[in-house]
Amino acid sequence: MTDATPRRIRLDALAFGGDYNPDQWPEEVWHEDVRLMREAGVNLVSLPVFSWPQLETSPGVYDWEWLDRVIEVLWAGGIRIDLATATATPPAWLVRAHPEMLPWDADGRRLEFGSRQAYCPSSPVWREHVGRMARAMAERYGQHPAVALWHISNEYGDHVARCWCPESAAHFRRWLEARYGDLDGLNEAWGVNVWGQRYTAWTQIEPPRRATGPVNPTQLLDFERFGSDALLELFRIEVDVLREVTPELPVTTNFMSLFRELDYWRFAEHEDLVTDDAYPDPADPHAHVPAALNYGLMRSLKGGQPWLLLEQAASAVSWRDVNVPKAPGRMRVDSLQAIAHGSDGAMFFQWRQARYGQEKFHSAMLGHRGESSRSFQETAALGRELQRLAAVRGTRVRSRVALVVDWDSWWATSATESLPSQRLSWLQQTRDWHAALHALGHPVDTVRATGPFEGYDLVVVPNLYVTDAAQAAALEAYAVGGGTVVVGPFSGVVDTTEKVHPGGAPGPLRALLDIEVDEPWPVADGSVERIALDGARYDAPVWTEWIEAGHEASVVAGFAGGVLDGRPAITRRSHGAGTAWYLGAVLEIDGLVAVMRRALAHAGLPARDRTDPHLEAVTRADDRTDYTFVLNHGPRELTLDVPEGATDLLADGVVAARLVLPPLGVAVLASPRASKPPFITLSDTTE
Ligand code: GAL
Repeated sequence: MTDATPRRIRLDALAFGGDYNPDQWPEEVWHEDVRLMREAGVNLVSLPVFSWPQLETSPGVYDWEWLDRVIEVLWAGGIRIDLATATATPPAWLVRAHPEMLPWDADGRRLEFGSRQAYCPSSPVWREHVGRMARAMAERYGQHPAVALWHISNEYGDHVARCWCPESAAHFRRWLEARYGDLDGLNEAWGVNVWGQRYTAWTQIEPPRRATGPVNPTQLLDFERFGSDALLELFRIEVDVLREVTPELPVTTNFMSLFRELDYWRFAEHEDLVTDDAYPDPADPHAHVPAALNYGLMRSLKGGQPWLLLEQAASAVSWRDVNVPKAPGRMRVDSLQAIAHGSDGAMFFQWRQARYGQEKFHSAMLGHRGESSRSFQETAALGRELQRLAAVRGTRVRSRVALVVDWDSWWATSATESLPSQRLSWLQQTRDWHAALHALGHPVDTVRATGPFEGYDLVVVPNLYVTDAAQAAALEAYAVGGGTVVVGPFSGVVDTTEKVHPGGAPGPLRALLDIEVDEPWPVADGSVERIALDGARYDAPVWTEWIEAGHEASVVAGFAGGVLDGRPAITRRSHGAGTAWYLGAVLEIDGLVAVMRRALAHAGLPARDRTDPHLEAVTRADDRTDYTFVLNHGPRELTLDVPEGATDLLADGVVAARLVLPPLGVAVLASPRASKPPFITLSDTTE
């Protein structure tokens, strides 16, 4: 097998199951588990994620027997395994023999053993041992027919995403040396003449620990890049071992949705299947909206390839301040939402609810009450229902809109306090822009700022603070080629070393937009500025900009009132058939909806006249069939106009042109593939 051969999960159905921790239970329970798993339709379980100490009881002394038996019991029941390399947490004996492998926080305090993930990502001892353990697991179980997938470590960066220990400091210096070549290069990149930061020896450089005042922003940005890379290196140690010992098996590591600390574009390059852990808060009636963005990211990380929801809660979690359970039907609609967005299954943390430990109040598929628990009844019903959706496995989401996600810009705008305003949030901007497109009826893919943009009619760039020439050229080529681009505030500001581009923003995006930003104009706390667009006024409560429009740019909207009264707020530049828009303000959702409505129309895309944030429609398709998932996330019935003659896979039977979805209701409409994906709207009869 060459590295180009796709390695697919060894499963011929949508995946359904959860994390399984049999080492927390007596052996007789395992048989009961498999009986109930079969009853619920479970076909895949993840294990043994945290079991290294039970598998290697002291250095070099292995106890495989219990795991051998678990695997046999599962396999005899026809259940496959997402086999963890068991390296999510080190055994106590390893930590005590090598206390230097414990991580440090930014204040230089060592974090103790007693929870999980008690390691410094750069520790050579830890790196050596994870490689050894992955090899031992692969040699022991890699040929077992039950193994469907490798599950490497667990949620990298969940507890320890950055480490400030001396080993990390040395690793950071090596990383900097590789990036900048020599100290002159580093001093130049970091702009050390400001505040007297010049370094004359590598040993003078430290990770950005708590300092006397604001730390050099480029040092902070590089530490974020380094921290992500350090965990990526750790991941790759195991990937390399598994590829060597079991080249035919696919590998994954479970992501944590849109997670600040790790550049998932880079992680995904090294895995075969993207998997995600998603915990939308049932207390938030709009949690499905950022969830849709997260899932858009997951399917986009490997170019639209199906991914897998590897963890979610059957009901409550146990790590929020208040852990609200999922009302009846919520878990079902949440699961079907992930599948709508390209997940080839729905998995849970965990199969059987724990009786002890940190997660005993975390729900599970099989609750404390066992078979009669509501979570078992509801998850088992979902398991049976998924069999009706077998045809969607392997199909891809049809999206015409892409949103740029750039970790450098996220890190640079959140690592430093030295900005025009602390109120501008990359994450909030990204979520709000997505929410506007979501409300207007579009599932949104994500994309790097360098593309690829082919196949999209609209590309939105909420906040590309760090911009380089390649990104600018890619966006420009897209617009020149006929695409519509919308660029948000505080974009094109700095280069990759955080130096303001010559002439200021939008730097290399100037040719695309034909504007200049004279000065960012953040809005004082408690104040609101406004823009006037299409006869309406929209609030800009956080951020505005003094914009000078060039000759090629037309002004679409201006500021209304305040110091910037009458000055451009939104501009548009034509590039032949394509256009590039700039929005120089942070708007609330209603304003963003108005802007996106204009942009969608310009791009030739439909938009819902009437919006309801609880309505979501996403189409997955193969060459012949569109499968349109229509989801009602809200508490009120929705009446929708849908294409006539489709079959609802969940309900049997042909659907009329007017579909009534009850609260938390879902329909999956199968219809012959159309040239454009079906566009679902609220019917006029909906109040
Ligand atoms: C995840 C983790 C699981 C479990 C779960 C609880 O972050 O991977 O092991 O702790 O959270 O919600």
